[in-house]
Amino acid sequence: MVFLIGYMGSGKSTIATHLSEQIGFDYIEMDEEIERKEGMSIARIFEKYGEKYFRQSETNLLKSLEGSLVVSTGGGIILAEENQQLLKSADHVFFLNASFDTIHDRLINDEDRPLWSDNIKKNKLRFEERLPIYHGLAKYVIQVDGKDSQAITDEILNCL
Ligand code: S3P
Repeated sequence: MVFLIGYMGSGKSTIATHLSEQIGFDYIEMDEEIERKEGMSIARIFEKYGEKYFRQSETNLLKSLEGSLVVSTGGGIILAEENQQLLKSADHVFFLNASFDTIHDRLINDEDRPLWSDNIKKNKLRFEERLPIYHGLAKYVIQVDGKDSQAITDEILNCL
């Protein structure tokens, strides 16, 4: 199983799609899977049931995964202790490391992510708080700024 971790907007879903095609693994986008199971968008889940409920769904899904998969995780997967333990015991955990400026440029008009706000300071603070956690859980850190999808995918392929 190959896990891609990183902040919102770091390109996990795009890279996971490319990677899965190239290594012949199935691809799972955790947010999409949760949306499918719950029958509503992530934003609606947050609104209706709150973040705690979403985080529990995320953990349940993570624990249920098996087989040869490329997993595009949600940016907050690294928050729960239980998820951290699971990721620590996995061999192929790749942190897609994008700078805050790259993320900010990509998400500037994003309205789908409940934890991405209009307040840049708030976004930056959350980003900075999470950085050490991503680093601590990653087996490999892939710098993504200024690189296209194939270059990033190739770097991951070289580590597998
Ligand atoms: C979140 C990231 C989102 C999604 C939810 C919460 C986070 O996923 O799981 O909005 O806490 O960083 P992406 O990283 O795919 O945007």
